[in-house]
Amino acid sequence: MKYIIANWKMNTTLTEASILANGVKEGIADFTTNTVVLCPPSIWLTTLAETFAKHPLKQLKLGAQNIHFADKGAYTGEIAAPMLKGIAEYAILGHSERRKYFHETDEMVQLKVKQALTNGLTPVLCVGESRQPAEEALHNPAKLSKAHIQPILHQLDIALKDLSENELKQVVIAYEPVWAITGSGKGVAATGLYANHVAEMINKHLLFRFGKVGESMPILYGGSANAENAGEFLHQPALSGLLVGSAGLKLDQFISICRQAA
Ligand code: PGA
Repeated sequence: MKYIIANWKMNTTLTEASILANGVKEGIADFTTNTVVLCPPSIWLTTLAETFAKHPLKQLKLGAQNIHFADKGAYTGEIAAPMLKGIAEYAILGHSERRKYFHETDEMVQLKVKQALTNGLTPVLCVGESRQPAEEALHNPAKLSKAHIQPILHQLDIALKDLSENELKQVVIAYEPVWAITGSGKGVAATGLYANHVAEMINKHLLFRFGKVGESMPILYGGSANAENAGEFLHQPALSGLLVGSAGLKLDQFISICRQAA
């Protein structure tokens, strides 16, 4: 089973969101082995949830792009996890754009992960390094230094701190090298080999930290994934799917990615 998660970021009008969501629903109806999660702007979640509820598709879920770390309170403009009950099942947390533009710290991400789990949401925990590796390492990742991976492991250590075995089982990791993201980075995807290598390092670290439950946590790749390069990532043994940004806004591209994952 592969996860294909679409992060629509701050894009779409209500009409565009409805057309895109319904198009995805139609287009992936036959791909029953995937879990496809659409993460539209939160203002459209209720409408899309109501539309999907009329004729549910088992493999199609909704997710939020962010939640607050408190369950309610005086936090103007924010959305709390309990508000998403019955509307969304997933929440993208710690995305590099949240970290960069909204100054989210590892500690805040940790609280958000806990909030999500407490409220029955599956966290899609985003981690990734900012520094672009040398071109050589993209094709021969064994050359990567430990120091290059270290920031990723540090983000994971804090975000997953104090979670029970049962909680760890519900977390999905999205490895997103910041330099590869279309919006906040250079918009050039990593190579499949590189992403797989880093996912293996993450996997080893999770095994070391949490034993079997850590080893079985799914790790997705994100960063300029599109219909052309999806296959390269989806065939890697350490990767369990993709977190897709810009290509998730183009119906044909997104359906093609889902088809390749199925
Ligand atoms: P991108 O975004 O696919 O547009 O690079 C990915 C992400 O930010 O999750």
